[in-house]
This record gives sequence, C-alpha cells and structure tokens, in this order.
Amino acid sequence: MTRRALVTGATSGIGNAFAKELARRGNDLVIVARTTDKLEAIAAELRSKHGVEVDVVTADLATSEGMQAASNALTDTTRPVDLLVNNAGASLAGWFGTTDIADEDYQLDLLVRAPMHLMDAAIKTMAGRGGGKIINVSSVAAFTPRGVYSAHKAWLLNLSRWADIHYDDVNITVQALCPGFVRTEFHPRGQMDVSSVPRWMWLKADTVVAASLRDLDRDKSVSIPTFRYKVLAGLAQYMPKTLVTRIARRGR
Ligand SMILES: NC(=O)c1ccc[n+]([C@@H]2O[C@H](COP(=O)([O-])OP(=O)(O)OC[C@H]3O[C@@H](n4cnc5c(N)ncnc54)[C@H](OP(=O)(O)O)[C@@H]3O)[C@@H](O)[C@H]2O)c1
Repeated sequence: MTRRALVTGATSGIGNAFAKELARRGNDLVIVARTTDKLEAIAAELRSKHGVEVDVVTADLATSEGMQAASNALTDTTRPVDLLVNNAGASLAGWFGTTDIADEDYQLDLLVRAPMHLMDAAIKTMAGRGGGKIINVSSVAAFTPRGVYSAHKAWLLNLSRWADIHYDDVNITVQALCPGFVRTEFHPRGQMDVSSVPRWMWLKADTVVAASLRDLDRDKSVSIPTFRYKVLAGLAQYMPKTLVTRIARRGR
C-alpha cells in the first residue's frame, strides 16, 4: 500500500479526485497547486474526514521556483513520498503558430518540464529507498497529432513507458494515464468549445481515478480508462493517413 502520495493539481478535476480517493484509502498526502485557500480547504476536509496527514505546497509548476518547491517535498527523507501523481495541467486556446510563444513556453513548462523535474526527484529518491510509484497524467490525445497539447502528452506517454521498463529492477512503477474527455474545469478554463462532443465520450473524474489505481495495482504502464477509449486509442494508432489528416485539420 502507498503511505504518502504527492498529487499535483489537487484543487479540481482529476487531481482532486485522486486526492480524495487516496485519502479515503488511508494515504497521507502532499497536495500541490497555485491556489492556497482551495488547497487549505481540501486539506482540512480530508484530515477531518479520513484522519490522514495532508501537507500543502502552493506552487506555480510552470516556474522553476514552483518545480523546486514540489521537488523538495519529494526529496524530504523525513516525510517519504511513495506515490507521485503528476497531474497538474491546462490548455491554451488557439492553435500553435497563432498563439503567443510566451504562452507556449508556459504550457511546455507546465506539461513537460514540471513532470520531468518531479519524476527526476521522485526516481532518485525512490530508487534509494527500495521503490515507489509514479502516475503521469497524459491523455488519449497522445495517440494522435493534434497541436502542441497532444505533442506534450505524447512526450509524457513515451517517457513513462520507458521509465517503467528501465526502473523495474529498482521496484519503481511508472504509469501513463491516458483519459479521454473528462468533465472538469479543464475545458471551460481553456475556453474550449466542447458542445459537439457526444455525451457517451464524457467520463467522470472518479471513474478515471478508479481505473488508474486498479491498473497501477496490476503494474500496467499505460492506463486507458473505459473500454470505449481503449478501442479508440487502439484504432488511433493504426488509423489510415487520410483519417489522421482529417483529424489534424479539424477545427482549423
Ligand atoms: N479533462 C479532460 O478531458 C482531460 C483529458 C485528458 C487528460 N487531462 C489532463 O488531466 C490533468 C488534469 O486536468 P483536469 O481535467 O483535472 O483539469 P482542471 O479541473 O482544470 O484541474 C487542473 C488542476 O491543475 C492545477 N494547475 C493548473 N495550472 C497549474 C500551474 N501552473 N501550477 C500548478 N498547478 C496548476 C489547477 O489548480 P490551480 O488552478 O489551483 O493551480 C487544478 O488543480 C491535466 O494534465 C490534463 O491535461 C484532462
């Protein structure tokens, strides 16, 4: 069993569902995000409801200081972390090539540099302690070319698959979690019009978290919640070029 988990982006959506489920299972937590009052309120609720310890780290993970603050919690040997959930994320409105490059840098830092730094800190600490687990929240978007976001998520998927194999001998499990559409604050915050997404494609954050933790227990390096998305992700990898082109062009 995991004893202490660090969850980034725990103030809403998938990260919040991870924090709640892990606390319900009796794990102590370190929760990370930018909004201190939300983090404190969640920490107070989880402490009183489940009797677990919850540490709060306020950090903007797109900054070097924020990455360092979260990394420090991972390397603190007095409060060892057994599970890292690299979840914090956001999207940027507009297609690459039309957006402000400073905003693209911010996205790259949040979706690529931050999980890389946190994985680095976690692997180095866990390897010296006999093992640990890492969940990197990627996306089914990783399986198709669709802008910078899908490229960032493909990077995380690829690194996770390699790390899971490479660090197996020091007992470190790394999972790439690849959900489809999940009802969270992600789309409204990113000003995305998702009105045409059919109802059957929407998942609940709780469903995604349950599938991820079940797959983690089974040492699955890639977790794709629900059968329908397993099929879609499988098809995406073998889809003909004409269809890939149609998807890449959609919304231009
Ligand atoms: N929703 C989907 O359909 C979907 C599908 C596939 C993958 N994902 C991935 O799932 C992850 C979680 O997304 P979600 O859907 O749960 O979105 P969400 O509801 O918007 O939650 C995002 C979380 O990340 C935190 N966050 C955002 N920017 C941050 C920053 N710069 N530094 C630190 N924390 C930051 C937010 O907290 P604060 O605002 O308090 O900082 C919040 O807790 C993301 O990596 C996303 O790419 C989402």
